[in-house]
Amino acid sequence: MKDKKASDSYCLGIESTADDFSVGVSTFKGRILANIRSQYVPVEGGIHPREAARHHAEVASNVLEEAFSKSKIKPKNVSVVSFSQGPGLGPCLRTGATVARALASYLNVPLVGVNHCIAHVEIGKLKTGAKDPVTLYVSGGNTIVSAFDSGRYRVFGETLDIALGNCLDVFAREAGLHQTEGKPFGAVVEDLAAKGKNLIPLPYSVKGMDISLSGLLTALTNLLKRREYKLEDLCYSLQETAFSMVTEVTERALAHTEKKEVLLTGGVAANKRLQLMIKAIAEEHDARFCAIPSEFVVDNGAMVAWTGVLAYTHGVVTPIDKSFVKLRWRLEEVEIPWVE
Ligand code: ATP
Ligand code: FE2
Repeated sequence: MKDKKASDSYCLGIESTADDFSVGVSTFKGRILANIRSQYVPVEGGIHPREAARHHAEVASNVLEEAFSKSKIKPKNVSVVSFSQGPGLGPCLRTGATVARALASYLNVPLVGVNHCIAHVEIGKLKTGAKDPVTLYVSGGNTIVSAFDSGRYRVFGETLDIALGNCLDVFAREAGLHQTEGKPFGAVVEDLAAKGKNLIPLPYSVKGMDISLSGLLTALTNLLKRREYKLEDLCYSLQETAFSMVTEVTERALAHTEKKEVLLTGGVAANKRLQLMIKAIAEEHDARFCAIPSEFVVDNGAMVAWTGVLAYTHGVVTPIDKSFVKLRWRLEEVEIPWVE
């Protein structure tokens, strides 16, 4: 194995938990040298895990090559290879893990399996300077409020059924909306919501610190069929109701932990209305709302590379025979030796 000083050490990180295959390169000091992403876009409907995995296998070598060329490092300069070991879709995770294992063995460098949810938090901290935030992570597959406590990131609240992004995407498809110019469905809903004025009463379901979105989605689907309301008003009401639920839980986590920073991440973090709501509760609790550049809120290889650096420099390595993927790997299962 190679032994290198931090100044000339690089981690290459591979992300493949869902529809993105992405490769990032980070120095051991946290300079992101490359963050290349290739997204699988289904012809229709949601993500088919095996089709997405096939896409990842097809683009892997090109994305890797581009990451090397962008970062201007050579394969022999890589000191560690990290990969998203879970949670995520089995076939997609396995494709990324296979590429990571092959690369680590070929280069004869250590392999580090990274928890995808923790990687979102760590890149958010790196890019905003946040030290100890409450994080709301909202994407197509995840809806989690987390914060660090006693050696681990803990889940303070989460969805009991579908993820927030998934709720927006399914609604948009049911409503017959289209993704023009590759715009995510969530952004299409956001544009329409901006024109909505009437707040239609919808199921609001916060149970303890958790939320449930399936009742809301069912109610909306039924309203769509009745054609009583303007689509703009439905989008507006969907956003107001669902975003209020996640904001309520985030605010309670903030009040309970008394932390002074709030991170908003995941694809849904791009939403301006949600940003405003989270910013408002942060201000009420004298906490800093930390805005992450959009490139780093969506699934990306850079977050995996940087978390690989943190883990590896604190003694974490994943032997090949322990590098099986973990489809339901929860973030509180991971010990975090790099946070004081
Ligand atoms: P993960 O694997 O972390 O669950 P993902 O595969 O869903 O992530 P992301 O890019 O993090 O990928 O998130 C995609 C989600 O973000 C989709 O549900 C999409 O509709 C939603 N989204 C994107 N832009 C917006 C927006 N402006 N407003 C609301 N939702 C958005
Ligand atoms: Fe993600």
